[in-house]
Amino acid sequence: MKIHVLLSPLNADEIYFTGKTTVVIDVLRATSTIVSALENGAREIIPVNTVEFAMKVSGTSFGGQTLLAGERNAVKIDGFAMGNSPLEFKPEVISGKSIILYTTNGSKAIVKSKFSENLFVASFNNLTAIARHLLNLGEDTVIVCSGMNGMFCMEDSVCAGMLLDEMIQSHQSLELTDSGKACLVLYENVRSDIHAMLKKTEHGRLLEDKGFSEDLLHCAKVGISDVVPVYSTGVIKPFVKEEV
Ligand code: MLT
Repeated sequence: MKIHVLLSPLNADEIYFTGKTTVVIDVLRATSTIVSALENGAREIIPVNTVEFAMKVSGTSFGGQTLLAGERNAVKIDGFAMGNSPLEFKPEVISGKSIILYTTNGSKAIVKSKFSENLFVASFNNLTAIARHLLNLGEDTVIVCSGMNGMFCMEDSVCAGMLLDEMIQSHQSLELTDSGKACLVLYENVRSDIHAMLKKTEHGRLLEDKGFSEDLLHCAKVGISDVVPVYSTGVIKPFVKEEV
């Protein structure tokens, strides 16, 4: 299995992903939020890449079963029902709902990867389940770090490193590109305290300044969910194994 890591989605266009197996990571906080929402019973997540499109999709939906969620500069967007804190997505609020999600980096990275053959969403929270799923699939894979405004960010690359480490621990011989090897080195350096690492990142500090310290604690939890979010034809749902 060959694994490549894109340290930022800026290095690829939509066509690059055609036919690929892709995993998108945005630890702070879009992919942690998606895992929380699906774990807590959301029907599906509809990732979008503009606020205007989010409004349009919600306008064409029916029956009060959709919720608009998302952030600008980490804060809930005016007129949206929810922000982008994984802790907001409680069962009593989101169970059975379709959630239209716009975020600065994460939802855009997912939309950009939409031509992938297989497209999954990962965070520390569901890392073990994603590692297992990728190993079962056995396909060459691209891990996309959503980064920050097109730039590198530490937390997504560390998460990619932990995912690779987890897969290697399962005795799978992986062929890594240099960016994958770099993520492993980065992860080795901070593996003893993921929460402390998140607190030191640029985005972690911004979130703490805005009062989202609890989100950092939550996003640092490893393997608390078995949900494998899969994107297909515009929506993200939990992977369900087909009965034979
Ligand atoms: C993003 O997509 O950039 C993030 O999820 C921002 C955030 O809400 O912290």
